Amino acid sequence: MSSSEKKGFTHATIERNVGLLIVLSILVISFAGLVQIVPLFFQHSMTEPTEGVKPYEPLRLVGRDIYIREGCVGCHSQQVRMLQSEVQRYGPYSLAGETVYDHPFLWGSKRTGPDLARVGGIYTDNWHRIHLRNPRDTEPASNMPAYPWLQHNSVEHDDVRARMNALRIIGVPYTDEQIEKAPQQLVGKTEEDALIAYLQGLGVEGRAAAEQAVAEGRR
Ligand code: HEC
Repeated sequence: MSSSEKKGFTHATIERNVGLLIVLSILVISFAGLVQIVPLFFQHSMTEPTEGVKPYEPLRLVGRDIYIREGCVGCHSQQVRMLQSEVQRYGPYSLAGETVYDHPFLWGSKRTGPDLARVGGIYTDNWHRIHLRNPRDTEPASNMPAYPWLQHNSVEHDDVRARMNALRIIGVPYTDEQIEKAPQQLVGKTEEDALIAYLQGLGVEGRAAAEQAVAEGRR
């Protein structure tokens, strides 16, 4: 008797039944996916903040929301990849622990403009002001839009406490005191100030740890 004539449930049964083949393929792929993904939930380097990384200060937190609102993520990634060319251009590659307080994360993948994961401290605040008001003033060929209105909008009456409380519920360790004092940081500040504070902090706190990881070839 040849193998194709065998009775009962054989590999041939699956191969000849498209429905069954699809269902079993989905099962196998799902299981394999879980085997890869689930351990990451328990791996410290993925879930714990990188050394030096702290929750966003109120002004930076408000700036981050402006970054989201203005769609900056549509042109800028925030993820230096583990490639020699990226490390040379942008600095030490990003560690997962550097973005544990990002809800949602803004890693992105579209790079019409440069990656911003390590842009903090590279330029002066004043450079950012000129650039945000008209990118053509610093880079004549830039196709980045201008954001001149940010300098006119105040963030003083923003609901920063509510935002911090919401983040605390999902695990960002803000203290009562930090939340209580948050509005003081926004006094007299504009959306432009907040956005620049956010940009100036990008990739700074975790940089030393990331440099060490790069030197040791770790993730
Ligand atoms: C249409 C795509 C686009 C959008 C949207 C955009 N940018 Fe850009 N951005 C660019 C390009 C292109 C450059 C490079 C030329 C330049 O410096 O302007 C750039 C450069 C930058 C730089 C300098 C980076 C460096 O390493 O030199 C910063 C900072 C920046 N953008 C911030 C922002 C912020 C903040 C927003 C949202 C308010 C934003 N961008 C929105 C395209 C964009």
